[in-house]
Amino acid sequence: PLQCTLTGTWSNELGSNMTISAVNAAGEFSGSYHTAVTATRKSILASPLKGSQQRANQRKQPTFGFSVQWQFSDTTTVFVGQCFVDKRGKEKLETMWLLRDAVGSRKDSWKATRVGSNTFTRIAEENV
Ligand code: BTN
Repeated sequence: PLQCTLTGTWSNELGSNMTISAVNAAGEFSGSYHTAVTATRKSILASPLKGSQQRANQRKQPTFGFSVQWQFSDTTTVFVGQCFVDKRGKEKLETMWLLRDAVGSRKDSWKATRVGSNTFTRIAEENV
């Protein structure tokens, strides 16, 4: 495609998958995130995501953000990124994330946030 659309199923370099359902007229979307890794000892569950993107019709390579409310952990992750399309029409989502841990008291707040980056590429539904 010439234009990047977030709708569909994506995979990152960690092996995590996410599926984003239709983006509405306001740019809002929801979906499901299946992480390949966890900082906890819990078993991983698919978790809901909610976000918004800048209007796709005005911007071919929209910026976006979404948060994931993990169903198996007390943490929250937010992602911000931009969708890029290369000359061959291949789409990539370049993102950075912040993961907030639930700590017991305010004095531990200083160590409660991790940061990182992920690159997502589109995958076919049958590989999920
Ligand atoms: C947790 O361990 O508390 C919840 C899962 C966190 C997974 C993180 S979110 C950022 C990074 N990118 C991924 O695809 N998974 C990890």
